[in-house]
Amino acid sequence: MGDSKGNREHWASRAGFILAAAGSAIGLGNIWRFPYMTGENGGAAFIVIYLLAVFLLGYPLMVNETVLGRVSQRDPVGAFKALAPGSPWWLVGALGVFTGFIILSYYIVVAGWAMAYIYKVVIAVCTPGINHEAVFKSHITGVWEPIIWAAVFMILTIGIIAAGVVDGIQRWSLILMPVLFVIMIILIIRSVTLPGASEGLVYYLKPDFSEVSGRTFLAALAQAFFSLSLGMGVFITYGSYLKDHDEIPISTAWVVSLDTMVALMAGFAIFPAVFALGFQPGAGPGLVFITLPAVFAQMPLGMFFGILFFILLAIAALTSSISLLEVVTAWLIDEKGWPRKKAAALMGLIMFIVGLPAALGYNVLSGVSFPILGTDILDTYDWFANSVFLPLGGFFAAIFTGYIWGTNKAINEANKGKTSLSIGTLWRFLIRYIVPLLIAGIMMMGMYDSFTK
Ligand code: PHE
Repeated sequence: MGDSKGNREHWASRAGFILAAAGSAIGLGNIWRFPYMTGENGGAAFIVIYLLAVFLLGYPLMVNETVLGRVSQRDPVGAFKALAPGSPWWLVGALGVFTGFIILSYYIVVAGWAMAYIYKVVIAVCTPGINHEAVFKSHITGVWEPIIWAAVFMILTIGIIAAGVVDGIQRWSLILMPVLFVIMIILIIRSVTLPGASEGLVYYLKPDFSEVSGRTFLAALAQAFFSLSLGMGVFITYGSYLKDHDEIPISTAWVVSLDTMVALMAGFAIFPAVFALGFQPGAGPGLVFITLPAVFAQMPLGMFFGILFFILLAIAALTSSISLLEVVTAWLIDEKGWPRKKAAALMGLIMFIVGLPAALGYNVLSGVSFPILGTDILDTYDWFANSVFLPLGGFFAAIFTGYIWGTNKAINEANKGKTSLSIGTLWRFLIRYIVPLLIAGIMMMGMYDSFTK
């Protein structure tokens, strides 16, 4: 609908975009999901594959999405409509908006656990002999508590999005992201200086490829998409708030680097401590909620570090959840002409309701499980969003630029403005051939392995 170019908000500075986009990328994916995926998939071998996915697929796709957003100055659905009018390509944008719904609906559940643990960790640390697994289980199997915390988290998210791009997203990213870095560094220093930390470092840094299978590749691919916020239009949306002279290749390179750095840092904060205090790394989604409180309980000043850790987790989650809500909000503003506040509030409410089954999956709905994937409701939302929808979104966005809209236009758009880094032939080659082939190949291989073993 309407030409929103005239009154569209734009980031006030380069740092505004970089920190907001890094805020989106750095989240539960880095601090909660990356460590347990690494722990479940064999440590450093998984990390090597993950890094390949980030550089071969992640960076080119982030440039691609950002370019589509900047050139069109529209939300993900509108961007495809503007660049390929009258074609069904807008469905790729619609898939993104839909995926945003699924992710945010379970994201707030885990973010709610993180908020609750800011005080639960105190109980965990102060009660000698407490069973940490039982504490976590009783938290997630309680009916009301997880729902209330998810609601609180959603209200914070809505509040920031309702305030707008500059006064909401940019403002809070500029405040929260530096806090996050400082907390992370404190935690790493604590972890690697514990006696016995080196065993964890070895596990984390020494690759063992004997356990690698098609599933490992799919897991790394899914992790890269999720962690970099790719494949669902976050970068189309955030890119649409860039001005013509803003540099895309270097800003997105910053975002990819920061995200990767924080994921690796999370591993340095977690694995040395886990091994030093005699725990196992393969605890799955419960790693940071069960294993870490146990670790904090045995650590000098553990309560302090425990509180700090869960504040870190909640902050990281918040700067990501706002980007998920912003995609859907931007779509309603640009395509349906809704006012921002109404769009944010109503969509937030709907996503909260969609998320209820994920929150209730451990109590009233605990009978519901998905035997093929061997998981509960939350894991199932996670699996479909990250292993299926995000890679598909990235795949189609690459095909769109590579074969429909044209890589020449994309390259020109990306290199606009004063650039210290520009993209060209290599990027074209990656977007047209490597990205689609790798995504398709890994998805097929991973699905085959997942369903046959
Ligand atoms: N990147 C976020 C994280 O790592 C999650 C996310 C995925 C956010 C997709 C937006 C879009 O936690």
